[in-house]
Amino acid sequence: MEPREMGMAGPSRLARLGALELPTPIRTAPAGPPLEQPTILIADSHEINRRVLRGILRCEPYRVLEAAHHEEAFRLLEREKIDLVVLDLMLPDIGAPEFCRRLKLQRHTRLIPLLVMTSVQGVENEIAGLESGADEFLTKPLHPAVVRTRIATMLRQKAAIDSLEEAEGILFALAQAIEQRDTCTGLHCERLALISVTIGHSLSLTQRELVALYRGGFLHDIGKVSVPDAILRKPGPLTEEEWRIMRGHTIHGEAICRPLKTLAPVLPIIRHHHERWDGSGYPDGLRGEQIPLLARILQIADIFDALTSERPYKPALPWQEAVAILQEETRRGWRDPELVAVFRSICESKTEFTQALCPNLEPDVVRTSLENMRVALLQ
Ligand SMILES: [Fe+2]
Repeated sequence: MEPREMGMAGPSRLARLGALELPTPIRTAPAGPPLEQPTILIADSHEINRRVLRGILRCEPYRVLEAAHHEEAFRLLEREKIDLVVLDLMLPDIGAPEFCRRLKLQRHTRLIPLLVMTSVQGVENEIAGLESGADEFLTKPLHPAVVRTRIATMLRQKAAIDSLEEAEGILFALAQAIEQRDTCTGLHCERLALISVTIGHSLSLTQRELVALYRGGFLHDIGKVSVPDAILRKPGPLTEEEWRIMRGHTIHGEAICRPLKTLAPVLPIIRHHHERWDGSGYPDGLRGEQIPLLARILQIADIFDALTSERPYKPALPWQEAVAILQEETRRGWRDPELVAVFRSICESKTEFTQALCPNLEPDVVRTSLENMRVALLQ
């Protein structure tokens, strides 16, 4: 939110307050290897199977790694930048379903395509392979041309996903740089994501909505890239023209993120996080439930974090005072009364939540909470 302004308003389908456990950790992706040559990991306990596959791929421009056991496979996944896993359905001690579950759980491996193979014929077996979470399934004996074609297709898809991820990564980095320029509060985006997703959990929102909230925590103010420092960091009140430029960050932010289809659920948050419940906000003057719920949630989180954070022009307020201000703004007609009530309940009932939101908290604690939350989102 703008330093000189406090928030906006809320929802109505307020489900019960759910548990606020803030999930489990996620690691950042290991430093990636050179990607001109895709890396394939073959996880199969039978040496002969690995040798056959390696032979089929011998003339292809791939780097092939092998693992005879799932522990070895996960060690390689931890250490290397793998583009495709070829897995034996009956990998000892774990099996394809559990292997796949673990693969999809970790942030740095969740998008790696999985090709499962089995030597057992039959539709039931094929169904079991696909139900394990595999992206593709092949039955042995392998036809070399089919294997090569299938792998080439999966690697092309992986390359497309990588480029999307890269584009998203750039936007996220840009958003964080902008936030630093604006507020000088290093973990503002992380806390917004944490608060927003916690509210979303309490409202029993869908996974897609929670992910949008998480991303919105980082991207909501990305449009401030279009606002000059002289305005963004101006110590005194803004002129009407300066306010016009400042308000434009909502529309510019939406325009920046619109080309990425994966960010479509985040666009309403970016555009509408400064609307007000009574219609006096911007950019569209939406009122009440016309304002997208996710935007109202992000707004509450944004205001709360601004109030409980120290800024050059103000001290950090205790969470109780921040909630009181939110309630006062609700009385003025700016905020969604139901959503503010829910948020107050969260703060009062979950001390670990308010502790985790304390701006004076050790950055590592905030990061851990956020990592936990990310893993929960992936489950
Ligand atoms: Fe904003």
